[in-house]
Amino acid sequence: MFRIPSLPLLFSPKKLPLIGIDITNSAVKLLEIHPYGNKLQVASYGVAPLESGAMADRRIKDYKSVARSIKRVIERTQPSTTRTAVAVPTAAVITRTLSLPLELNDDEMEALIMIEAEQHVPYPLNEVAIDFQRQPPLNPNDENQPVLLVACRKEVTDQLDYVLEAAGLDPIVTDVENFAMERSLGLLLNKLPNNQENQIVAVADVGATTTLNVFRDGEIIYSREQMFGGKQLTDEIQRYYGLSREEAGFAKKKGNLPADYNLELLQPFKIALVQQVERQLQLFYSSTSYHDIDFLILAGGSSAIENLPQMAQQQLGCPTYLANPFIDMVLSDKVDALALAQDAPAMMIACGLAMRVWS
Ligand SMILES: Nc1ncnc2c1ncn2[C@@H]1O[C@H](COP(=O)(O)OP(=O)(O)OP(=O)(O)O)[C@@H](O)[C@H]1O
Ligand SMILES: [Mg+2]
Repeated sequence: MFRIPSLPLLFSPKKLPLIGIDITNSAVKLLEIHPYGNKLQVASYGVAPLESGAMADRRIKDYKSVARSIKRVIERTQPSTTRTAVAVPTAAVITRTLSLPLELNDDEMEALIMIEAEQHVPYPLNEVAIDFQRQPPLNPNDENQPVLLVACRKEVTDQLDYVLEAAGLDPIVTDVENFAMERSLGLLLNKLPNNQENQIVAVADVGATTTLNVFRDGEIIYSREQMFGGKQLTDEIQRYYGLSREEAGFAKKKGNLPADYNLELLQPFKIALVQQVERQLQLFYSSTSYHDIDFLILAGGSSAIENLPQMAQQQLGCPTYLANPFIDMVLSDKVDALALAQDAPAMMIACGLAMRVWS
């Protein structure tokens, strides 16, 4: 991303292998994907937890600790390259679609974008990384074309570069999470029944928190994060059974909790979670001109909770699926197939980043 001033390209045309690294509040997720005949192959995959206090509100708080976790996942997965794609959180960027003359060459476009940016970016431009992407004209005879302007404070991109370099990696691409999600969604869309035009698909990414992304014809039109998610269940387990955060998180994944867990904690959490997704959808409807979606896809680590898609489908009355971006991919020998299958819904952003170079 962010070609002006002097940052690695977001929309780089080069097709050299790279790895996708998703740094969340609680984990580092690594993925390497290669073309494999007419398919894609997962060449390397790994997830390492982040130490408590390493991140807060999606910002790096302890550089050494985050770099250590990245190094750990690199050592374990042995990817074939150090070239890396990483994403800034969607909330950290300003995106605008501008209508600009088709005839401009890249240099002219860049100069005009910088002038336009003054109006759209509420920070001094020397503190901001900016990039743009031309989109196809809406009509064949148009003299203007839509141009996507993306801007992010440099301190956000700089801190990611710094931590990747400290872990021995080469930051090549800085993307945005919702663009990475869009790329992964592309893998799922043709798996949906009645893949029709103007299809509205909502993806609820239920990780520690929940982000609702809505796509029209595979293009993101709405994205909003909400603080309710798997973290609430971990907190409840911690309190109810007197466990540490790590113990609670581990027990939740393994499912080895006392018999009353299901009734006392898990079931109420599932109900609350579906209600939250319903509320997020209502918010989407009330802030846009849409009043329906065609499909709901559940992604994120918490969507692995048993029966959640069925519950959501019943409550929301909309066909609901669990995300698996790897469904058509081949796995290399060194990839742990079982672990990847379990983590698949939580790998949408890492997958979109890993595919960055091939798309
Ligand atoms: N098998 C499982 N059953 C229940 N919860 C799970 C399971 N696996 C992961 N989780 C929960 O999913 C959450 C992590 O999901 P994910 O990896 O998608 O989040 P994240 O990307 O790290 O965070 P976020 O996207 O919210 O910043 C944690 O709360 C974890 O406890
Ligand atoms: Mg996530």
